Amino acid sequence: MNRLKDKVCIITGAASGLGKSIAWKFSEEGAVVVILDFNEKEGQRFARELAKNGVPSTFLQTNVTESEHWTNSVAAVIEKYGRIDVLVNNTGIFKDGNALTSSEEDFKNILDVNVNGTYLGMKAVLPQMLRQKKGSIVNIASEAGLIAIRNQIAYNTSKAAVIMMTKSVAVDFASDGIRANCICPGRMHTALVQRILDSAEDYDAQFKLMSEDRPLMRMGTPDEVAMGAVYLASDESPFATGSVLSIDGGYACV
Ligand SMILES: NC(=O)c1ccc[n+]([C@@H]2O[C@H](COP(=O)([O-])OP(=O)(O)OC[C@H]3O[C@@H](n4cnc5c(N)ncnc54)[C@H](O)[C@@H]3O)[C@@H](O)[C@H]2O)c1
Repeated sequence: MNRLKDKVCIITGAASGLGKSIAWKFSEEGAVVVILDFNEKEGQRFARELAKNGVPSTFLQTNVTESEHWTNSVAAVIEKYGRIDVLVNNTGIFKDGNALTSSEEDFKNILDVNVNGTYLGMKAVLPQMLRQKKGSIVNIASEAGLIAIRNQIAYNTSKAAVIMMTKSVAVDFASDGIRANCICPGRMHTALVQRILDSAEDYDAQFKLMSEDRPLMRMGTPDEVAMGAVYLASDESPFATGSVLSIDGGYACV
């Protein structure tokens, strides 16, 4: 299938989890895949795996909280491929805690990666997308940006901000041919969730809790979310901008 044929697509946090699934799905749709992640070992390993499968791809070690890293990575992509069609801001981190128990440091860190990282990514690619008069940005928010989930004040706050940043960019750049949309995934069994399970006192009870708290009574798969990213990134969604696509097994309905 060719929904992203030859489109140069930057995906952040793509050395693991959902980002990796998005990268695979995009490659199946003919995309040129650019992986940005600060995990050099896993990022390089994944880029080699993509190349072995004939996928044109590049890994650029990037910390999304550093504007200088963004400047360098975006310049490298433009130098190599001449354009940037899609940015998927997928990087995100999680730590639990409420207003009393979360440390100031954790709160700032989560906002830095999830909010500033997304903001800096959009800021970095917009000049090139403006030159092209075309571009599609897909931000990965969360069901936690729509509903206040207990004991995760920093994460909830950060993901609500991602949704509002997406809408802001959508209205500011609609007349320039640039679309910005976001996805609110529900819980998927990725490394991020595995870390929560591993830290639980009772693994099985936690697994059950994390699977059965939504109408579809299970966790999602990264592939199910990646399909939404293909739709929003591609020209199959030309009238969609500022949209908030829930892929969460119905969690946000109840
Ligand atoms: N897993 C879930 O259930 C779930 C649910 C809803 C939303 N999300 C969101 O989906 C996105 C991906 O989550 P995941 O579960 O795949 O996470 P993950 O922990 O498996 O992967 C995150 C990736 O981001 C990279 N990363 C972290 N900080 C970075 C930084 N500062 N700069 C560059 N790279 C950095 C990591 O190296 C890793 O490769 C996140 O935004 C997350 O909030 C996840």
